[in-house]
Order: sequence, then C-alpha cells, then structure tokens
Amino acid sequence: MSPLSKSPAAHATIYLKDYKEPDFLIKTVDLTVELGEADTIVTSRLDLARNNAAAKKLSLNGEHLELVSVAMDGRTLEAAEYKVDGKHLTLNIPAKTNRFHLDIKTRIKPQENTALEGLYKSSGNFCTQCEAQGFRRITYYLDRPDVMAVFTTTIIGDGTRYPVMLSNGNLTAENTLSDGRKSVTWHDPHPKPAYLFALVAGDLAMVEDSFITRSGRDIKLRIFVEKGNEDKCGHAMTSLKKSMKWDEEKYGREYDLDIFMIVAVSDFNMGAMENKGLNVFNSKYVLASPETATDADFDGIESVIAHEYFHNWTGNRITCRDWFQLTLKEGLTVFRDQQFSADMNSAAVQRIGDVQRLRAAQFPEDAGPLAHPIQPQSYVEINNFYTATVYEKGAEVIRMIHTLLGEEKFRKGMDLYFERHDGQAVTTEEFVSALEDGSGVDLTQFRRWYVTPGTPEITVNEKFDEKTGTYKLTLQQSNAKAGADFKPLHIPLRMGLLDENGKAMAFTEGPFKGKNSGVFDLTKKRETFTFAGLKSPPRASLFRGFSAPVKINQQMDDRDLAFFFAKDEDLFNRWDAGQRLANNIILKQIEKQDETAALPEAFMEAFADILADKDLDRAFTAAALTLPGEQDIAQKMPVVDVDAIHKVREEARRQIGLRFEEEWRRLYDECSSAPAPANQPESSSRKLKNTALTYLIATGKEDYVGLADRQYRTSDNMTDSVAALSGLKDITHPVREALFADYYDKWQKDALVIDKWFMLQAMAVRASTIADVKALMDHPAFTLHNPNRMRSLIGAFASGNPVYFHERSGEGYRILSGVIAALNKTNPQIAARLVAPLGQWRRYDAGRQGLMTAELEKILKLPDLSDHVYEMANKSLHN
Ligand code: BES
Ligand code: ZN
Repeated sequence: MSPLSKSPAAHATIYLKDYKEPDFLIKTVDLTVELGEADTIVTSRLDLARNNAAAKKLSLNGEHLELVSVAMDGRTLEAAEYKVDGKHLTLNIPAKTNRFHLDIKTRIKPQENTALEGLYKSSGNFCTQCEAQGFRRITYYLDRPDVMAVFTTTIIGDGTRYPVMLSNGNLTAENTLSDGRKSVTWHDPHPKPAYLFALVAGDLAMVEDSFITRSGRDIKLRIFVEKGNEDKCGHAMTSLKKSMKWDEEKYGREYDLDIFMIVAVSDFNMGAMENKGLNVFNSKYVLASPETATDADFDGIESVIAHEYFHNWTGNRITCRDWFQLTLKEGLTVFRDQQFSADMNSAAVQRIGDVQRLRAAQFPEDAGPLAHPIQPQSYVEINNFYTATVYEKGAEVIRMIHTLLGEEKFRKGMDLYFERHDGQAVTTEEFVSALEDGSGVDLTQFRRWYVTPGTPEITVNEKFDEKTGTYKLTLQQSNAKAGADFKPLHIPLRMGLLDENGKAMAFTEGPFKGKNSGVFDLTKKRETFTFAGLKSPPRASLFRGFSAPVKINQQMDDRDLAFFFAKDEDLFNRWDAGQRLANNIILKQIEKQDETAALPEAFMEAFADILADKDLDRAFTAAALTLPGEQDIAQKMPVVDVDAIHKVREEARRQIGLRFEEEWRRLYDECSSAPAPANQPESSSRKLKNTALTYLIATGKEDYVGLADRQYRTSDNMTDSVAALSGLKDITHPVREALFADYYDKWQKDALVIDKWFMLQAMAVRASTIADVKALMDHPAFTLHNPNRMRSLIGAFASGNPVYFHERSGEGYRILSGVIAALNKTNPQIAARLVAPLGQWRRYDAGRQGLMTAELEKILKLPDLSDHVYEMANKSLHN
C-alpha cells in the first residue's frame, strides 16, 4: 500500500450498538475567542463532572488544532501528562477526582479553512458551522450531542473590521480593551450540545423587527446581512414572524430567549443551521426581492426559515442522544415545516411538491447502494447521513404517525414529548414512546419503519361480487431491500371509493360509515379489506394524499387513470393519476421505438379536461399539466435509456403544445393580464403562464421564441425572466445567446442571480452542452470553493442533466470525478455529496456501467482520500 493512501481500517465504522454514555459531563464552558488576521486564539474553561466511576481517562475531540496549553484545576500540565494526536487530547483523571476544570488554549487558522466546518471566513466575515462535528475544529471538547453545557462566549477582535460580534443567547457585556480591541460577551442560559454553538463577527448590516409572544414577551428579531442587502430581508422577516406565530398556535410552543438572530453568509455547505438563538443561513435562503428571486426561491426561504426556527423546540430544547438519532430532529422538523407551508399556501400543491422531492431524491437512494433506514445502524462519516432518507422519508414516517393518531391525539403525544423530554438528549425510541403514551395508540409494529431500509411495494388486487354487492380489496406488501427476514410494516391507507361517474360512494359500515374517505391499517404481508352493500362496482382511490411512502403496483389502464385524473376528489391522487398516465404513455412510446407516434386520444382528452377546468388553483393546474420529469420516467425503466426518455418526452411536449396551441395562448394571456382569482397568489398565475410558455416553445414555432424574448425583456420579476431563459436554454438561436449575455451583464454583481445563469446552462440539452460546461468551469465567475456556485454548475449538471451527464463518451462522468478529486482536499463534505449520481451505475447499460465504475475506482485511489468521499464511493461500488 502506498504511504499516501490510508488503509481501509483508517476509515473506521461507528456503530449504534456501541453507544455508551459519556464518562464525563461538561456543566459550563467559558470560551474566549480572539480573532486575528493570521490566526485565532481560543481559550476555554470547561467545568467537568465525572459520569462514570470507573473512567481513568478523559479523551476530548479535537481536529486541525494547535494545542498551546492545557491546565487542570489551575496547574499547567507538562507535555508528558497528556497525549495529543490528530483527533484527540487525552488526559489521565485520578479516580477520586469527580469535579474539576480544564483551561485549554488552542490556535486555529479560520482564514485557511476551506472545509467550511468549525470557524471560517466568508466574504471577510467570521462565522461558524458546528453541526455535526465542527466544534472540535475550534477547541478540544466532548463533541457529542449528549454532552450539554451552558456556554458563555467572549469575542475579542478589531472593532473596525468586525463591529458586529455575535454568539448564542443574550449579550451581557461590551467593552473596549486597553489595546483598543473590542470585546463582547454572550451568555446562553440553555444547556446545549456543542453542535449548536455559533459565533459571527464582521461588518454586517442589520434589519430589525420584533414579535410579541402569546404570553406577552417582546422578542427582538434581527437579520444580519452583507451591507447593501438590507432591502432583501423583508420576506425572511415576515416568514420568521409567521413561523413563530404558527408554532404557538399549532404546537403551543413559544420562543424562549429575548432575541432571535439570523445571519446570512455566502459560503455555506448546507441550506441553514439552527444554532441556539443565532441561526446561520446560506444567503440563498434569506435574500429575496421580486427582481432577483423566483417564486420558488420565496417559497424556499419561507420553509427554511420555518424549519430552522422550529428546531428551537424539535432539536435544540430536545436534542439527539447521538447522531444515529438524527431523524429525531430532522424528520420531525421537516414534517413541521411541511405542515406550516401547507397552512400558509395551497395544501395540495405543497403536498405534490413534497412527494415529488421524495420520489426524485429518496426513492432512488432507497433502491440503490446507499440505502439505509431512517435510523442508520452504522456510519463512517456522519455528514454523509444528512440524506433524503433521514430527512424526507423521516418526515413521511412522522406524517404516518400523525395520520394514524389523528390531529388531536398527535398533539397530545407531542405535548407529552415536550413535557417529558425538555432539556434532554433523546432517542427516536423515546419519541415514539411519548407519542404512544400521549395518544394511547399502540405503535409497536409501526416502529419497524425506523429500522427498515427500502421502499415498500404494495401490490393491489380487486374483486367485485355483483350478486352480493361486495368489493374485496387485497393488498400485499413486499420490499426488495429489506432482505429475507422482511417483516410487514404498519402502513396507513387513506382511501375512498368512487362510482362510475366519479361520485364518492360513502362507506356503508365500519368505523368510517357514512364517510367518503377513511384510514385503514395495513399490518400484514397480505390483507383483504371487504366493503359490502355496494350497488355498483366501485373504483378505489388508494393512498390518498400519499398516506404512506410506498410504491403502488396496481393494474390500471389508461382509461382508469384518466378517470381518476378527471374525477378524484383528492387533489393529490388526481395529480398522481395524471402522472401515472403520462408515465405509462411515455414508456409505451419508448417501447415502440417510434418516437413520433401520436399520443393516445384518452390522454389528450384528459389533458383537455384539466385545461378547461377554471375552478382549479392555477398552480395545481400547472402541476397537473406538467409531464413527469426525465428522472421520474427513468425510475420506471429496467435499464435507463436517457436519450430515448428525452426524445419521447420532448415529442410528447411538442404534440401537447400543438394540439392545445390556442388554449395555451389564451391561458398565457389570461394569466399575464387578468388578476389572479381570489385566494390564489400571483405566483400561481405565473406558474401556469410559464407552463403555457414552455408548451408554446415546444411547438418549435419561431413566434414563441419571440414570445419568450418579449417576456424576458418586459419582465419585472425573476420568475418570468428565468422562465423565459429556461424555455430557450435547449435551442441554438441568436435570441438565446443574446438573452444569456444580457442576463450576465445585468446581474454579474449579484452572486445568487448568477448562480441561476450557471444552472440554466448546466441543464441545457443541446449538442454543445459538454463543451459549454467545460468552458463555464473556466469562466472568471466560476469557483469550486463557493458551494452555491459549485452546485449551480456541477451539481445541476450531474443531477439535472441526465442526457449529457450520461453522454456515451463518459465525458460527463469524468467532469464530475475531476471535481470530486479537487474538492476531496478542500471541502470533503461537499465532495462526498457529488458521488451519489455515479452510485446509480447499476441502472444503466453495460457501456455506461463500465465508465461510471471506472470513475468510482479512480476516486477510491485518490491520495489522502477523506472519510467522507471514501464511504460514498466505496458503498456505491461494492454495496
Ligand atoms: N441542521 C441542519 C443543518 C445541517 C445539515 C448541519 C447538515 C450540518 C450538516 C438544518 O436544520 C437543516 O436541516 N437544513 C437543511 C434545510 C432544511 C429546510 C431541510 C439544509 O441545510 O439543507
Ligand atoms: Zn434541520
């Protein structure tokens, strides 16, 4: 083995079954951080208490640190009295020592920190990211979530460069030192794990507001941004106030400090972070104005602000015992932010979006080599487990509990959870127990969801006995990933029956007698539900609202699907029937190998019905009239053929464009000029208008290139501008080139707006795409070191451009693996997140499989391979 490459043993696996309580606890931390231009000095005083009578050693986590000194109970230790390696500082603790303090001084270099974990600089400002294990890059500490301490933080630095100095909790002192430096002290009275620590220092602008809690406390709300961005904080502030109010009304949860701060930074690995009282956000999820942000960006801000705010109760006051419990806070908080967004906006459209995300990101993960249960049993690098499964499927699991318990009992369970565990670091088991005890509903079998990987598949069989008027619905569950000892899950089935005209048939008996919809418990591998007293054969609308994260295997022909698409009273199922119908048709066209075959009339008629229905929310209509995405179709093919999918889908869009050309034009004009119908937001109209625009462009008629051009040139909002560019991105035409050039010129000073410019080009499907992407990597505005910019080009290309990422020469794969190699050294967390697209290699033809696995092999041979990238590439190749 070469001395440069680590042996596999170096990438150690950590197991949930090995969990042990900490030997020592930390009661209080007094941190002093002296910010400098060359380096930063961190002094900490830890007040420790023994938690295990037998422990002889204390082993503190610490990485990328230079230890300056360590003292125990006031006595500086000699080098022989402790051990330091790249990961720990280990001290002997005499048996009778139960309470003691340590003073530890370390030197760090935030200016050289490109990993963006721990303390680092972004646009000249200091900021921190400590989840999951970043605090150990600031000082030696028991960096685990079950060690909760009261933090007091003093920040010292140049007051002209860093007039704003922030940390968690309340400001308790502010001074000028004799050497002219500024010093501020923050105290957070709530004990917390180190991952919730935050520090920010810089020359930032502030936008201030306030919120009166329901008990009458006046909370200061402050958003800090780079100067010049003050006018882009309004939506974030409004979203914050709505979130605070909603959590009081829906869950009875009030905010618990006198100040709540949000800081927007432009270099951030993730979306945002819930540090106690001091959330740090990727600027993408704070800054917005109609001119610079799309409607989707506005929605994203509302939900991310809500998510991080909701963590104050589900994550901070009650945190995770260990990182295997991550879904305890993330799944639950995603569920809460989804509920919030559904209350603030159209609930059906919100649900459709949630399920689209789950199916696009989580289903492939659950079917591939990186599949894991929402509570993983082992990991090499915890950062690799902030996954769609832990988050999105985790949220579905909470939603199923909500469905099984009903609103009222769910609230009772949540109340008990908050009451029982406030201030604790707990497990998912403790969560489920609290919900069970609070509601009185048995969740024994339901617990299997936490430990079962893979998406359950439900096979449906139906029988109707004309003579007795009895309908039998048989459901069978299976799970390809769960292995031989597969145990059936407890699955909530929300369903209703329709008659042949689409009218609801109320249940004639049982718990839902007289109702049109009910929730049934599917608990066995195979189970039959019987519905008697029916005058005619019913049609069953199953898993309404997507009541469980499953795949449904049900014999339905185009006419059946068109029926539900037109008639189901459940809007989610209406949309879903349309998607299934479109999927079936596109897959059939692909099979025929005749890309230009006319679309079936049943499909066109179903489309026409939706187009004509004026009562629907325009955003719903837009979703219903949008064909399933290429990746969605790909999931239904035994061997993915990216080129055929693209061709057939584009041809379908062309036919739909031509067939309804008049209607699209009418809709386009109506949505542009007529005001949005009452109780529909403007954004719904824009969504439908831009759907019409894309179908008009799909006709291939030159006129509509002109329409997009006009829309771009007269637009006063980013939604319409981006829609125009997006509509033209795949063609080669002087208008396209002119608009992309104009956009760059106009917005080059606004990084978030330029990210969209990179993204649109990365997703273009045209002959020059590979060359364009390479040229964009050399563009002066491109850098791998800003995560947003990197994602907007490389992430969008690898995950959003199947045709060219999977281009036959393998050039797309090589572009990606080159970037992974570069980022492995500077930002392994971000590098590892890029591996997943290559991990899908088993889904492609032999030629592509060979090219993809070759890149994974290359990645595994990289010198100094990080744990992060190692784990993802190794599992992708060998699992
Ligand atoms: N706690 C996370 C942030 C985080 C993620 C820290 C990974 C460390 C590693 C935060 O609450 C979060 O979940 N953020 C999401 C957005 C959210 C709306 C789902 C994110 O950053 O993507
Ligand atoms: Zn979160």
